[in-house]
Formats: sequence, structure tokens, C-alpha cells
Amino acid sequence: MEKLKNDLLLRACKRKPVDRTPIWIMRQAGRYLPEYRAIREKHDFLTMCKTPELAAEVTIQPVDIIGVDAAIIFSDILVIPEAMGMKLQMIEGDGPVFDNPVRTERVANKLKPIDPSRDLKYVLDAISLTKKELYGRVPLIGFSGAPWTLLTYMVEGQGTKTFSNVKKLIYNNPELAHNLLKKLTTAVAHYLTAQIRAGANAVQIFDTWAGILSPRDYLIFALKYVNQLIAKIKRTDEPVIYFPKGVHYRMRTTADCGADVIGIDWTIDMEKARDKIGKKVAIQGNLDPNVLYAEPSFIKREAKKVLASYGKGTGHIFNLGHGILPDVDPAHAKVLVDYVKDKSKSYHQ
Ligand code: CP3
Repeated sequence: MEKLKNDLLLRACKRKPVDRTPIWIMRQAGRYLPEYRAIREKHDFLTMCKTPELAAEVTIQPVDIIGVDAAIIFSDILVIPEAMGMKLQMIEGDGPVFDNPVRTERVANKLKPIDPSRDLKYVLDAISLTKKELYGRVPLIGFSGAPWTLLTYMVEGQGTKTFSNVKKLIYNNPELAHNLLKKLTTAVAHYLTAQIRAGANAVQIFDTWAGILSPRDYLIFALKYVNQLIAKIKRTDEPVIYFPKGVHYRMRTTADCGADVIGIDWTIDMEKARDKIGKKVAIQGNLDPNVLYAEPSFIKREAKKVLASYGKGTGHIFNLGHGILPDVDPAHAKVLVDYVKDKSKSYHQ
């Protein structure tokens, strides 16, 4: 077993004692860093994902520049639908687009099962290379989209405010929706197992669109498959983090999904979340990403509220409640990280 110089994240995920609260930032490898933009100017986003040397370089940037306690592999959740045969385009300013969204059996039948060691080898290579280049400084997090969130993108084909297409599918043709969710669950389980084999020390499942479902539909179309997925991941003691953004209800049922950590956004009260699920799982979150637009003294005050709201003891992983925004000043991200590293010590005495 490798020895990590900083294993705070892994310890906190397992609710083992730590001398301070670990912190990392969702979307920490990205456009708010000038060092990222310098590389991005020369290569398009998907080329960066598919070139292990570039992916490893930008994965490590926030560890060097911001001082976070974990790296997260530079990639995207949409590499799975792409590997299944969908044509993915990243349109500047508009985000990801699939030309031929999956809304009928005919299109669904064309999707291929994936073999990660062949179809997503570039991610696994990026993970092994990053591990080598990190020299055990911090753990490396692998990730995937959750089946429900991947289905949403595959059916909508692009950004949406109403989610009408994926809702039409689950209401009008639930059988097709469930067939697709089953396929995705298998694909993601193989993918995350392969990431762990390649060296990922923990994995996060992003369920960005879990919160658009009714509490009942969340159980049927999202959580059910996350339960199956987590049970299928082959791992020794690598923690699993599940982040069902926008989900306020069914917290206890969510905490039973098999994950070691549940991520929450800033619209949920940390103290209440800990009350409900803190005996079963660790909790990750939950500073509003927009707080980083404020001046340093305000950032520190808000960070203090998050620390105090979780309270004393282990089981908290500090993070934003969603990804860092592209026009945030990196110095502000550093203020947050330095503050949490220093002031969280008093919560662990
Ligand atoms: O956290 C990290 O630093 C690792 C890298 C990472 C990216 N995407 C890089 C990226 C991770 C973990 C993701 C996950 C992801 N991708 C999610 C789930 C998390 C979330 O934010 O909800 C989702 C929904 C996607 C889909 C996606 N990819 C969108 C909607 C977009 C465009 C929107 C945007 O921010 O521009 C992307 C592109 C993307 N993924 C970028 C990055 C750094 C921007 C690409 C660029 O450099 O132009």
C-alpha cells in the first residue's frame, strides 16, 4: 500500500480522527486559474481530457496553487455517453451538446456497452500518470456522473431549464428510462472500479440533477440505481462520495445508499444534516460558491459558519456546495483554503 503524506480526506471520509478538517473544491481544476487558461488556449477541452500529460498537469495545478487536500482527476461526466457512442461537442460559451439525444428505443438500441480499459483508457492513463506525478502528496479522487444525471444529459442533449424531455421519458415511457438507467449503472460501476484499479483513492458520484425530481421519483429513478451502483463497485477501502445536489428530502434513505460520504449544497443546513445522517456517514460541503465573489473578511466569516454548523469532531469534508465559478479570483479560493486549514483545528481538539 502506498503511503500518502496527507491522508486527511480519506480519514475524514471514514470518520476517523483528524487534526483539522480537509478541504477540496468541486471544479477546482478549471477556468478560474490563469494557469489552466494558458493550457486551455492551446488545446480544446476534450483534447485536454484525452491527453494524459495535459490532464495530469491541470489536475495538479490546484494542489500547487491553492493548497487543497485532494486532487480530482481532470475529465468530465459526459465521457461515458461519448464512449457509448454519442457524439459529444463542447460549444464555447454554451456547454456540452449531443446532436442525437436518446428519446426513442431506436436511438437507445444503438448505445454500446462500454469496456473502460478500452473505451476510456485515456482516463485511466491520466489517473496513473497523475498518481505518479503527485508523489503521494494528497489523495486523488476519481469520479463519474450518477446514472440519473447522465440520463438527463443524454435525453436533453443540451442545457435545459425545464427538463421536459427527460420528464416526458420517465412519465411516458418508464420502461425505456429504466432500461437505460440499468445500462448506465453497469457502465458506471465498471468505470469507477477501473478508476480505483488505476489508482484513484476515492470516487465521487455527481448527481447534479437529482434535485429536479419529486421525492418519490428521486427514489425510483435516481437513488435506486445509486444503491445498485455502489454495491457493484469493487473496492477495498476507497471511500465513495455521493452528491445528490438539491436533495433535501429522504436524507436518511440517501445515507443508506452505501456511500461513505454524502455531499450537500448550501441550501441545506449543515447542522440539521449532521443530526439526521452524521452517525452513519461523513458530510461534504457546503459553502455557497458565490461567497467567493465577496471580500476575504466575508469569505472567512461564512467559512466559519460552515465549520461551526458542523461542529466538533471528525466526519466533515469542507467543500463548496457546487463547483467553483469560472470568474472567481483564485486568491479568494486560497483565502478560503488557508482559513479552513488553520481555523478548523479547534474543532478537532
Ligand atoms: O472538479 C474538477 O476540477 C474536475 C473536473 C470536472 C469537470 N467537469 C471539468 C470541466 C468535473 C468533476 C466535472 C463534472 C461535471 N461535468 C458535472 C458534474 C458537476 C457539476 O458541476 O454539476 C457536470 C454537470 C458536467 C457537464 C459539463 N461539462 C458542463 C455543463 C460543462 C460546461 C459548463 C461550463 O462550466 O463551461 C462542462 C465543461 C467542463 N467540464 C469544463 C471543465 C473545466 C469547462 C471547459 C472549458 O475549459 O471550456
